[in-house]
Amino acid sequence: MAVRAKVLGTGSYLPPKVVTNDDLAQIMDTSDEWIQQRSGIKARRFVDEGVVTSDLAFEASKAALASAGLEASDLDMIIVATFTPDHFFPGLSSFLQRKLGLDATPAMDLRCQCTGFVYALQTARAFVESGIYQRVLVCGAELHSRGLEFTDRGRDTAVLFGDGAGALILGPSEAGDGILNCRVYAQGEHAERLWMDAPGLAYQGLTNAQMIAEGRQVPSMDGRFVFKNAVARMPEVLLETLGECSLGLDDVDHFLFHQANLRINEMVARKLGADPSKVHNNIQVTGNTSAATLPILFDQIIREGLVARGQLVTMTGFGSGFTWGSCVMRY
Ligand code: UT7
Repeated sequence: MAVRAKVLGTGSYLPPKVVTNDDLAQIMDTSDEWIQQRSGIKARRFVDEGVVTSDLAFEASKAALASAGLEASDLDMIIVATFTPDHFFPGLSSFLQRKLGLDATPAMDLRCQCTGFVYALQTARAFVESGIYQRVLVCGAELHSRGLEFTDRGRDTAVLFGDGAGALILGPSEAGDGILNCRVYAQGEHAERLWMDAPGLAYQGLTNAQMIAEGRQVPSMDGRFVFKNAVARMPEVLLETLGECSLGLDDVDHFLFHQANLRINEMVARKLGADPSKVHNNIQVTGNTSAATLPILFDQIIREGLVARGQLVTMTGFGSGFTWGSCVMRY
């Protein structure tokens, strides 16, 4: 039987500080009612001072290694999906590798925003299936809270995001389980519909006082346009990945969608006619943790005992780029 990349273990980490909608309403013009009605979010986690994204990635990775019964030294490759790294360079993966106590294990960052984890799975899977690497750590980690603007100007994005990390370890299996299919896409045409303009090397000195005054370092989003595209693309790519394995929606035991907005996921599930009891969400308490949403959610439902070995799990994402993708696996 063909070699497939199978999940050997999972882990996740959310920083302990809970920030409710009411907490945010005290510092800017928003309300619990608006946030819940539009996005389903009730609370999110924010890091404390001094904590960086690689700390979150480290905690999630340690938990994934423990659940796989592996040591960091067993890893052949580290892939981290993030667009909120500790520094411009080197990548977050170098800091994670160091925190894991490793000195030569290859480590790379992958930047595909909220679809980053699906892209990372597609990449890691290729390494495992080809036999190039046997044990690949795939991590999604984001620290948004330090990059948002908690003012009336920044409120449209500040209320949506949270901090956290999730990870899993892939290894080879010839038992018919593992990742069955994965598809990823991008449409750069819409890059500016959800982006952060600066700081960037498009600008001399990365940014300047005028750009900062204009708020170009704050994420900006054409919310309705993003919403419409997410609701169209996620079902499309999920059906494609399932269809290519001759599987249908009824075969799926667990649907995991990117956690950007509960309303998006409810609409996607309705559009598909997916059994609501098989659709998992945690955005209510995590907010949108971008590349970390899918591995956090996956780890949580595994630890809650909801997922049995052999069940069919799908992970589907959409985000800035635009990027989108879906992965079908037999857990
Ligand atoms: O993770 C990557 C993918 N991201 C997404 O998929 C996000 C997709 N988009 C969305 O989730 C939704 O579009 C949002 C939740 C971002 C916004 O919901 P919406 O129903 O599309 O609202 P809107 O942007 O049309 O804004 C409606 C009103 C505006 O006021 P006016 O112009 O109607 O007077 C905003 O100024 O709500 C106002 N508003 C707020 N009010 C209270 C914007 N942000 C806030 C806020 N609190 N935080």
